[in-house]
Amino acid sequence: MKEIIVKHPLINHKMSILRDVKTGTKEFRELMNELAMLMTYEAMRDAKTTEVKVVTPMEETKGEVINENEYAFVPILRAGIGLVDGVLRILPNAKIGHIGMYRNEETLEPVSYYFKVPSNIENRTVFLLDPMLATGGSAASSITELKKNGAKKIIFLCIVATREGIKRVQTDHPDVQIYSAALDRGLNEIGYIVPGLGDAGDRIFGTK
Ligand code: PRP
Ligand code: URA
Repeated sequence: MKEIIVKHPLINHKMSILRDVKTGTKEFRELMNELAMLMTYEAMRDAKTTEVKVVTPMEETKGEVINENEYAFVPILRAGIGLVDGVLRILPNAKIGHIGMYRNEETLEPVSYYFKVPSNIENRTVFLLDPMLATGGSAASSITELKKNGAKKIIFLCIVATREGIKRVQTDHPDVQIYSAALDRGLNEIGYIVPGLGDAGDRIFGTK
């Protein structure tokens, strides 16, 4: 499936402030969530709707609704947590799972430490959330775990991606649609995205 890099002046505007080294924790968190909202809007462009009857103060008409129960948001800890408030503002009744995964700083290999997803995951569209797609190891392993536990329809939503990370996910999981707000030049010698935005988890949680 071809990746989608969402192009929109609002996204570009917010990305520029997000990337800025001078942007502090509070504003960084707010921007992450605003970007998550905009990305969800785009990623749900083809969402299934059901026709319903609506009675306005004027007359009866027809409307369309989304069954929010059919969706699960699954952040990859820690940094994925930074996207959850935003996506929940769009679909407040969606279920939430969590995947604990961190990169070994030397090998850059993902290390899994937690996994909990909503019941009936096989019947839900799963939005896997992580702001950073660097080597792609964390996303690819998380998707493997989700599939082992029954997930069938998975969309990966991130904020900054590299060509290498996209390729890794597409090679391991060609059925997963990737949405990113930006496609960056690549990785530096210690596996950080350049130009990137630094360590997303540290900037969200103020741990450095
Ligand atoms: C970061 C990021 C991704 C991963 C991306 O997490 O949030 O999960 O790295 O890198 P990859 O594509 O090369 O796997 P990190 O390991 O820093 O953990 P943290 O979110 O707990 O800080
Ligand atoms: N994880 C981050 O938080 N930032 C990067 O640039 C790469 C991985």
